[in-house]
Amino acid sequence: MAKTKTPAARAAELREEIGRHARLYYVEDRPELTDAAYDSLLRELISLEEAHPEIVTPDSPTQRVGGTPVGELPNVRHEIPLLSLENAYAPEELKAWADRVVNRLGRTPAFVCELKIDGLSVSLVYENGALVRAATRGDGTTGEDVTPNVRTIHAVPLDLKTSEKGKGGAAAGAAARGVPSKVKIPAVLEVRGEVYFPKKSFAALNAKREEAGEPLFANPRNAAAGSLRLLDARITASRRLSAFLYSIARWDGPDEPQRQSQSLFTLEELSFPVNPHRIVVSDLDGIFGFLDEWKTKRHDLPFETDGVVVKVDTLADQRRLGQTAKFPRWAIAYKYPPEEATTVVTDIVVQVGRTGVLTPVAEFTPVLLAGTVVKRATLHNHEDLARKDVRVGDTVAVEKGGDVIPKVTRVILEKRPKSARPYAMPARCPACDEKVVRQEGEVAVRCVNPACPAQLAERLRHFVSRRAMDVEGLGDERVEQLLEAGLLQDVASLYALTGDQLAPLERWGEKSAANVIAEIEESRGAGLARLLFGLGIRQVGEKTAKLLARRFLSMEALETAGEDALTSVSEIGPETARGILEWFAQGPNRSLLAKLRQAGVRMTESPAASGAGGSLSGGVYVLTGTLARRSRDEAMAAIESAGGKVSGSVSKKTTAVIAGEEPGSKLDKAKSLGVAVWTEDDLDRALGAPS
Ligand code: IVH
Repeated sequence: MAKTKTPAARAAELREEIGRHARLYYVEDRPELTDAAYDSLLRELISLEEAHPEIVTPDSPTQRVGGTPVGELPNVRHEIPLLSLENAYAPEELKAWADRVVNRLGRTPAFVCELKIDGLSVSLVYENGALVRAATRGDGTTGEDVTPNVRTIHAVPLDLKTSEKGKGGAAAGAAARGVPSKVKIPAVLEVRGEVYFPKKSFAALNAKREEAGEPLFANPRNAAAGSLRLLDARITASRRLSAFLYSIARWDGPDEPQRQSQSLFTLEELSFPVNPHRIVVSDLDGIFGFLDEWKTKRHDLPFETDGVVVKVDTLADQRRLGQTAKFPRWAIAYKYPPEEATTVVTDIVVQVGRTGVLTPVAEFTPVLLAGTVVKRATLHNHEDLARKDVRVGDTVAVEKGGDVIPKVTRVILEKRPKSARPYAMPARCPACDEKVVRQEGEVAVRCVNPACPAQLAERLRHFVSRRAMDVEGLGDERVEQLLEAGLLQDVASLYALTGDQLAPLERWGEKSAANVIAEIEESRGAGLARLLFGLGIRQVGEKTAKLLARRFLSMEALETAGEDALTSVSEIGPETARGILEWFAQGPNRSLLAKLRQAGVRMTESPAASGAGGSLSGGVYVLTGTLARRSRDEAMAAIESAGGKVSGSVSKKTTAVIAGEEPGSKLDKAKSLGVAVWTEDDLDRALGAPS
């Protein structure tokens, strides 16, 4: 049949088909085709378009995959700000909110309860039904333009269609719900929602990363944020993100929905993915019913939810309630409390860290906690263990807040078996059998054998980690593998590795061997600050390493510095100084430095690059408008203490203009000169604040 049609006609037919099946699969969750059959339609279209580039249309499903990567995500100003929500952590807080609503309105309104999707909020603008812009929330007023990335998300329609009457799905029930069965697509439509990582895709992504020795994402939310903000949309496309839309911010056209519940149906009508688990209730009992229903059921959903959002249904009531400085008064987010489970401790094992510290870990009968099976939890140190007095055989309560590592919160003493004995830390290192020591005034018990294999593994992991020497291709598993193969004796031996040694190893091959060798090669130039951090000297974290590098500029100068010189650096106290002196005094460490030097690892920091050590060093910044979180003086101080300069006027030499509320002409000047414009969030990131 394809042969009898013109390529353009066949392509149009394929687009229609693919679009329909994509909606069935991604939005309505009732696929009619197997993945293979869907892929074969897509492949036919790709090859047709490749052979006839003139027939490609911008809304073709093949155009979801973005083109060339951009250098930096451009900023987008939200004409209608994206507000965030007040949180309620307990039923009483939710009740207090509802009481306030009732008081203000003088009656109890209808409420809509929706699941709170744990992802990243986005705003999508459609003009005459075509997606023209997608932006992140940013600070609420300025976000980042992520249009190419969002285009790769199959659940997001590129061009809006209204489901036809009688064709089932959302439309069939629409008339019954009082929504016009054929919504007229508005000239301009801005919708908001959440981009998220389905649990399954997240697990698959992390499994792939683990195999490749890449750092893992801590949770689906981080993975979604990371994936959406990638500069290369082709990579975003390879990650199976999805989305749910939950509100209409702008509707330029007839029949604008007047209730939140109606907006959700209308969004469905317009072919948007909308979370089906929602309800309209008439009172607080209804709200609590929904909260109870989803408390545990949410763990069975294919995506993460961290709570429920309750909204006053009619827009008229919403308008009457208005908003405070930060939040709308007509909505609130109820967050579920961290989940607790009880289980039995089957063993207490000891792990040996990079600096030789022994950490006890409780292993327990696997138990389902917040949707995942947990088997172990760290007990931090032996004091913590002694305080909680966790014993093998004990029944304990374990808790998980968010997606972090579970922790043992308490022992259920009534269930303690008579035979349970207090746990004693081993006198010898479980990895090398050397005697462990506990230094005066220290909580930690350590193995001080510099040749301990467990410490070496941890030291290597730390040395190659992203913030140290940054050898990305060497993840935990690979480090382990190289140790087992006898290829590494200390961190310096990394520099003696050859491609011929790596390529034949299981799961390596020529290409990844060559990549890792190139990364190791590059790491030689990482500089003094990273090297010092990577060496894992006690008390020397990333920040101290930068301070030291900035002050001493070379390893030689640092090696010969006495306690006074060290403590003359502000923020370095006597304890840190002692840690540094001890490290340099040890023979094995001195010979390690000699080996690294021999291997050509750079042991200096150039004053300019370290600028000195500050994350904004060498840059010139201009402030305009009012920032939300700091005064002008505070912003200047923060920039200067990170090594940046603050200037009053914008020129081509300006590194970035940091724009707050109501920016002045400096912003226009920056734009006309092509100078980068930052939000306060960007500044935070550049300053290295945790985001
Ligand atoms: S409504 C002014 N509905 O939660 C109302 N937000 O904590 C704005 N979120 O920034 C949001 N699911 O990113 C709304 N069903 C839902 C939501 C939801 C997730 C996120 C959203 C918002 C954050 C507030």
